[in-house]
Amino acid sequence: MGKILVLYDSATGHTAKMAEYVARGARGVPGMEVRLKSVDEATPEDILWCDGLAVGSPTNLGVLSWKMKRFWDEAAREIWGKVDGKIACAFSSSGGWGGGAELTCLSLLTVLMNFGFLVFGVTDYVARQFTLHYGAVLAGEPRAEREIAACARLGERLAQWVAVYVDGRSELHPVLSRRTDE
Ligand SMILES: Cc1cc2nc3c(=O)[nH]c(=O)nc-3n(C[C@H](O)[C@H](O)[C@H](O)COP(=O)(O)O)c2cc1C
Repeated sequence: MGKILVLYDSATGHTAKMAEYVARGARGVPGMEVRLKSVDEATPEDILWCDGLAVGSPTNLGVLSWKMKRFWDEAAREIWGKVDGKIACAFSSSGGWGGGAELTCLSLLTVLMNFGFLVFGVTDYVARQFTLHYGAVLAGEPRAEREIAACARLGERLAQWVAVYVDGRSELHPVLSRRTDE
């Protein structure tokens, strides 16, 4: 059974709501154990526990929040060098479109890469002109169907990659299985 952790920071609840939809998307893939934790309650052991990790942060001055950065700065003492090869992705809520949410995803992915995570983006469009190439991004909290769908697709894709690459369930490959259907 694949283990998924959705880890988030959120000062006013927007990224927390995104995290709930990311977790919901991951739970949609059968055989996944999914945990949702805020950065205030998570510990380095949670990172060691999971096979797949989605990390969310509010956009703060175009990068991850100080709390999320502190978590990884402090976690590094215990788990750096022990989590290489786990699969990870990012999501972020910003104050406005164009406010730097994708940059924040990239800053999260940079931290994760430093720990040896295999990070990914998603090429799918969940609605017209609405995609998540660098992670799920939105302004404020998820309300519109396409915003909820972007969060859920990120979680679903994380769970699919864990199913394929950790659990060896190749039939769940999201792209190859589509081709087989055609
Ligand atoms: C210190 C700080 C810096 C921020 N910087 C940005 C920013 O660079 N770009 C932006 O669009 N919004 C920025 N915001 C707004 C938040 O990203 C936005 O309100 C977000 O939805 C908050 O998510 P949360 O409810 O999960 O904390 C900033 C907010 C704070 C408190």
